[in-house]
Amino acid sequence: MTGPTHPLQSRQECVTADASDPLREFRRRFSVPENLVYLDGNSLGVLPKSAPERAKEIIETEWGNDLITSWNKNEWFALPLRLGKKIATLVGGDSGGCVATDTTSINIYKALGAALQIQAEHHPERRVILSERDNFPTDLYIIEGLIRFLDRGYELRLVDDELCIEDALDEDVAVTLLTQVNYRSGSLWDIQRVTRLAHEVGALTIWDLCHSAGALPISLDKADADFAVGCTYKYLNGGPGSPAFIWVAERYLADAQQPLSGWWGHARPFDMETTYRPARDIRSFLSGTQPIISLGTMQAGLDLALEADMNLVRGKSIALTTLFIELVETRLPAHPLTLITPRDPEKRGSHVSFHHPNSHAVMQALIAEGVVGDYREPDVLRFGITPLYIGYADVWDAVETLRRVLDEELWRAPEHQVRHSVT
Ligand SMILES: Cc1ncc(COP(=O)(O)O)c(C=O)c1O
Repeated sequence: MTGPTHPLQSRQECVTADASDPLREFRRRFSVPENLVYLDGNSLGVLPKSAPERAKEIIETEWGNDLITSWNKNEWFALPLRLGKKIATLVGGDSGGCVATDTTSINIYKALGAALQIQAEHHPERRVILSERDNFPTDLYIIEGLIRFLDRGYELRLVDDELCIEDALDEDVAVTLLTQVNYRSGSLWDIQRVTRLAHEVGALTIWDLCHSAGALPISLDKADADFAVGCTYKYLNGGPGSPAFIWVAERYLADAQQPLSGWWGHARPFDMETTYRPARDIRSFLSGTQPIISLGTMQAGLDLALEADMNLVRGKSIALTTLFIELVETRLPAHPLTLITPRDPEKRGSHVSFHHPNSHAVMQALIAEGVVGDYREPDVLRFGITPLYIGYADVWDAVETLRRVLDEELWRAPEHQVRHSVT
């Protein structure tokens, strides 16, 4: 661990800890609004200061001036692959192929389609897709949709948590689709162990890294993972709706077939052949024309994450989440807040969630007081701790504001009872 060696007891001690934090310089490279404690970087990361400059260059020079020549001259066409290589490095998957493209939902569809196809060729009797009951809904919805669409008798098997995985894995399982860090509780799955268990019964693995890429060290190669997907708008600070990624182990690249066989996945897209002939590498996981402005600006956040030592990020994340939990439990004991995130730091990602019976209104009041977290059903207050731009004093201030919101019952104000479409 890289954080303070003893529990911090005062705001001044937090300020001192921030002053000796080895990651402290990173904060200056992000536009963090003044007087705001932003604990929602696990939903939408903040703006890297270099991103507007890059956006301006892409829009004004590359689009405005170079126009269509940019596909070659400014290497727009190669961008998904170039950024994919950087992401592969970040997630410890240099031996595999990776492209930055589409959304996580779409990439789950492609990875699951390809994995089921591989299994169908060698083990057509395998009919189970295994996932977590509390997985992010899109993962479950995409599985459901593909099962319905393929109509080959696949079924979804759900486990409650990692403790149940050994019992649920058997030779009927074709593919597992699991999320490394649970979006609600923050529980962290052991990729290496679970991949090994899945392989022991002949199942393939797809890992959703949405809440872990950029938040902790990941070693897809070491884990011998098969497929992975993830987004770039959370801990990678890529911007709203920035393109996601899909990673495929080297052993499948030459022959994998993903269902969205569009022209960008063709071996020679500009030959304009009548028949689809997939590229025999990761490019076959591309489908169509990519959002170049979003891809280009996303690089700003990705480069910052690559510059940071992920072991330091993880150490600080553990120190900050531990501090957050300790402060809530020691300074707000009278309030009905129940921790739903694992207490063991090795078993959680980089966000902390508490149950409170009036969570939605409490979060609205907190936001009005300058502490931004978010609300998740049912009655969960979620706080994302992003070590590149959040410090110990921020955590102290956030907990003190939460104390005031609860002690003074600020959440009872009528304006905090309104539910907006995004929580
Ligand atoms: C774990 C997880 N998977 C998938 C998604 C959905 O990603 P997208 O909306 O980019 O397809 C999210 C979004 O927050 C997520 O948290």
